[in-house]
Amino acid sequence: MAHDMLTNSLEEYWIPFTDNKGFKADPRLVVKSSGNYLTDHKGGQVIDASSGLFCSPAGHAHPKIVEAVHETMKDLTYVAAFGTSHPLSFALAEKLSRLLPEPINHVFFVNSGSEAVDTALKMVMAYHSAMGQDRHRFVSRERAYHGVNIGGVSLSGLVSNRKTFQSVMPNIVMMRHTWDENELFVRGQPEGRGVELANDLQRAVDTFGGSTIAACFVEPVAGSTGTLCPPRGYLERLRQICDENGILLVFDEVITGFGRIGGRFAADVFGVTPDIMTMAKALTNGSIPMGAVAVKDSIYEVITDKAAPGAIEFFHGYTYSGHPAACAAGLAALELYETEGLYDRAAALSPYFLDSVYALRDHPMVRDIRGIGSLIGFELKSNGTPGARGGQAQKDLFWNGMHAKFTGDTAILAPMFIAEQSHIDEMVGKLAKTLDGLA
Ligand SMILES: Cc1ncc(COP(=O)(O)O)c(C=O)c1O
Repeated sequence: MAHDMLTNSLEEYWIPFTDNKGFKADPRLVVKSSGNYLTDHKGGQVIDASSGLFCSPAGHAHPKIVEAVHETMKDLTYVAAFGTSHPLSFALAEKLSRLLPEPINHVFFVNSGSEAVDTALKMVMAYHSAMGQDRHRFVSRERAYHGVNIGGVSLSGLVSNRKTFQSVMPNIVMMRHTWDENELFVRGQPEGRGVELANDLQRAVDTFGGSTIAACFVEPVAGSTGTLCPPRGYLERLRQICDENGILLVFDEVITGFGRIGGRFAADVFGVTPDIMTMAKALTNGSIPMGAVAVKDSIYEVITDKAAPGAIEFFHGYTYSGHPAACAAGLAALELYETEGLYDRAAALSPYFLDSVYALRDHPMVRDIRGIGSLIGFELKSNGTPGARGGQAQKDLFWNGMHAKFTGDTAILAPMFIAEQSHIDEMVGKLAKTLDGLA
């Protein structure tokens, strides 16, 4: 299907996070997606090496999800999200809470990862307020990505994502990122400087006073910046400092959740339980927009107990929180992750995926490769203009028949959990061919 059969003009749509002029001169439209593949508007088959934006591990257009949404929409297209609800929202929250580490059992639904982060920020504020504490400082990290809403941008450590937007939240303290240029091509957790880097939080405590810090937000594996795995001991030390100072620890598991790094959640993989977790993306296999924030029982109880009888406890929520179609998609996705053994399949394919991609480490275009589970940051050498080579590589890759998400010069590879070894071979072959063609 040619794009001009659907539309006369590409001009009006303002595409997010995209060079609009360049894109419109050389558009890359997807007209169909199924399993591991996309079909472009010229009829080409494109293997999806990033599961969309890391959101569709069960493959595109999974019939069970399509059917669940279709059946639900026959009866419920919308239910007011405030003051009323519907059974699917409770069923999904219950199912999700069974997957989450104890004692994280209360789930608030939102529509994206960005909304999950901003909701988590407000939950932290509501919690400390209910506790009668004046904690107004947040700790985040260089190279962090926490979405694009004002709270998430305030926590952002990616320069381009914040330099135009100066009016963000004050009182954010940044820890150093964990990438070390002396530790290239590490697979899994670097051995190095976990405790030393986590002690940046201790320095914030020493400088500002622990009782002024509300929460520490981290992606357990920094995803969008190109897969920065926490060095050994890092998350454990953050947990310890938070416990010693009454600081809430928030894991942003928007990418790492639902099997991406080799266990259900990063909290399970690394054996560190946060107080609050944010999720989105694979929650519905990317089929319907949805995110969630899950909190420890004690946080839910403190906030709900503080309100007067009959009063709303948390003045926050979205018109589409817990939308019936999203809940149906979420229930179907979580069900098939289990029934089709997708967490195990991903874990079983991981060594082959990592071996195959790391085999490109000596290519002259490659600067670093960082991988864990089913996630790899594949960093190209810059040509002097940051992001230029990555942008070119992304386009060339697409026309060579492969989709990969890039941040700057780094491709973030995240195959479907339904991928076979032959799909990995196809991805690596197309990646190598594209690298060979780069100037
Ligand atoms: C860790 C993290 N948090 C938040 C977000 C924002 O999610 P969304 O794009 O659904 O708003 C992302 C998106 O990639 C993410 O990786």
